[in-house]
Amino acid sequence: MAVVLAIETSCDETAVAIVKNRQVLSSVVSSQIELHRTYGGVVPELASRQHLEWVNPAIAQALEEAELSWADIDGIAATVTPGLVGALLVGTMAAKSLAMLYSKPFLGVHHLEGHIHATYLDQPTLTPPFLCLLVSGGHTSLIHVKASGDYATLGQTRDDAAGEAFDKVARLLDLGYPGGPAIDKLARQGNRKAFKLPEGRISLGKHQGKGQQGKAKYHPYDSSFSGLKTAMLRLTEQLNAEGPLPVADLAASFQHTVAQALTKRAIACARDFDLTTIAVGGGVAANSELRHQLTAAAEAEGFQAFFPPIDLCTDNAAMIACAACEHLALGRSSSLQLNVQSRTPLEKVMSLYD
Ligand code: KG4
Ligand code: ZN
Repeated sequence: MAVVLAIETSCDETAVAIVKNRQVLSSVVSSQIELHRTYGGVVPELASRQHLEWVNPAIAQALEEAELSWADIDGIAATVTPGLVGALLVGTMAAKSLAMLYSKPFLGVHHLEGHIHATYLDQPTLTPPFLCLLVSGGHTSLIHVKASGDYATLGQTRDDAAGEAFDKVARLLDLGYPGGPAIDKLARQGNRKAFKLPEGRISLGKHQGKGQQGKAKYHPYDSSFSGLKTAMLRLTEQLNAEGPLPVADLAASFQHTVAQALTKRAIACARDFDLTTIAVGGGVAANSELRHQLTAAAEAEGFQAFFPPIDLCTDNAAMIACAACEHLALGRSSSLQLNVQSRTPLEKVMSLYD
């Protein structure tokens, strides 16, 4: 049984948690949303400074809430990649210093591996293989989870991530930042069939794919949200000229289209790879329409779809600690020389461990 304290500072949440294998003992999340709201997005320099200010109180609070002392902690982890380099540095340097001070193993964690592990905190008996649909502000991926540290990306976005599309469309509709929760809330009052919008398919070109001759062939798992975003821009321009903007209908139609695109791809991928469990992770996993569509589609196929509780969908340190617990239990730890990296393919996750 491993008890890990983890620090997550990859973007705009200063988070610290203590997890015992798949059980959350404490989880502190200090959101910087108010700080960045004025700018309509995350300002990297401001994020780093705020992490510096908040990280030590968050560590103290996590220990206090778990009613533990340093003697009870088996390992200290931090998100080392991907993310904003300056922001990642704050959590990583704090974790390395504590690991040295208390002579504990240090574990550098891949943020996306954390999102994959969020489901375990709610479904502790879940074991690979399964398919993870990871939909956040920076990623939209279909990942074949084969074993701890063994992942294959089967599909991804070719341009914007799903969360990024929510944020950009929310800005277009003047709904503020972050856009996902605002669109989700407003969409409840709108008609999701009000506007027909393009789903954004990726053409495979002439010589690829298995479709019938002469038929357009599309990548079955990759997605694209830039066309949908442009369609929303054109539509709002046109509707603006006609009168007051039907924002609720626009939000509902957009959200429905994104949820449909993600659901179709996840189901096709699970079917093709004989994976009967789909675990959804990342901020967009909080979306009510995606939860509704994917749950219904999975049920119709005889598959299981798991969505973590909302506070484990968005960035938190409990998911990072959970991933670190698994590595530590398998005898893995990271070198104190390990540097933060703005990007690292998920397939290279084992390069973080000695
Ligand atoms: O996983 P996350 O907290 O941070 C990243 O690793 O990116 O995801 C943040 C993203 C934002 O783009 C936010 O707008 C989106 O998740 N999001 C949502 C919802 N809640 C958060 N998108 C759609 N519906 C929601 N309810
Ligand atoms: Zn995230």
